[in-house]
Amino acid sequence: MRILSGIQPSGKLHLGNYFGMMRPALELQQQGEAFLFIANYHAQTSVHDAAQLRESTLDVALDFLACGLDPERTVFFRQSDVPEVHELAWLLSVVTPMGLLERCHSFKDKTARGIAANHALFAYPVLMASDILIYQSDVVPVGRDQKQHIEVTRDIANKFNNEFGEVFKLPEPSIQDHVAVIPGVDGQKMSKSYGNTIELFADPKETKSTIMKRIITDSTPLEDPKDPEECNIFALYRLFATPEQRATMEANYRAGNYGYGHAKKELLEIFNATFEPFRQKRAELAGNLDYVESVLRKGAESARTSATATLDRARRATGL
Ligand code: ADP
Ligand code: TRP
Repeated sequence: MRILSGIQPSGKLHLGNYFGMMRPALELQQQGEAFLFIANYHAQTSVHDAAQLRESTLDVALDFLACGLDPERTVFFRQSDVPEVHELAWLLSVVTPMGLLERCHSFKDKTARGIAANHALFAYPVLMASDILIYQSDVVPVGRDQKQHIEVTRDIANKFNNEFGEVFKLPEPSIQDHVAVIPGVDGQKMSKSYGNTIELFADPKETKSTIMKRIITDSTPLEDPKDPEECNIFALYRLFATPEQRATMEANYRAGNYGYGHAKKELLEIFNATFEPFRQKRAELAGNLDYVESVLRKGAESARTSATATLDRARRATGL
């Protein structure tokens, strides 16, 4: 089974990315042949500063390796080291109806928010389909917001296979329902575009202040019982917690005399306990960038072998 996912280097990674995509993808490394890449071509739809793109690309590489990506098990690479995806994207675009792309939420949301759309933003899902199909992926772990893009990928693969003969496997999304949408400090979906994130590797003082001061709660008095299901702090805590820890916090909420400040403190503790070892690993890796570069190069070589094989078949099928 081939498992593939990608993430854009367009800002600092946060808990939404971690629980929605990174952790599920890292867990799946045990179950099959995993491919994970840094979608730097996709990031160019929003990042036009070369130094920033380079820096964010390296950050994502460090973040994944620090959080447990095992380069012996997972083929880890930069999207731009496999330029064959662009040729395949062209072959796919000839069977992609305009209407299919016009219906994509991510494109519609961005244009609705007044972001001037360029062609790359419109064509984004075709490149994403190419990323997935070129490696004959079976399973694509992503957060729920990417589900439509996987459906588009399947539509495009089907059309291509019908018109030109069977070249592509149809991939399945893998979305963990209990972590499908991680709330940000304001209760909306956590997203770097909403400025409501808890970053994975911010300065510890900043993380403390984000958790203690910025998570919004209601004004139920300390003494009163509280509903954990209605609370952003609990929604985040449960992602880290063991079933016992979770049950304890739930009981505390319902019993009363347990304030949001207490819950925030427990969230901060469990955050630190989880990320402190990753933070140390990340610092080590940052001191050994040659190693990080060698992982990405080796990954690209292996990804390219697989990509070239699919691209050759697609070229022949279409008459090139
Ligand atoms: P952002 O919204 O911060 O720009 P991206 O769109 O780059 O994040 O998302 C990268 C990956 O992380 C995707 O697979 C996406 O589904 C997942 N993800 C991002 N935010 C969340 C969230 N709040 N809850 C669950 N998954 C998320
Ligand atoms: N669009 C994805 C995101 O914003 C990133 C991505 C690009 C991706 N290509 C992919 C994810 C292929 C999975 C598979 O998060």
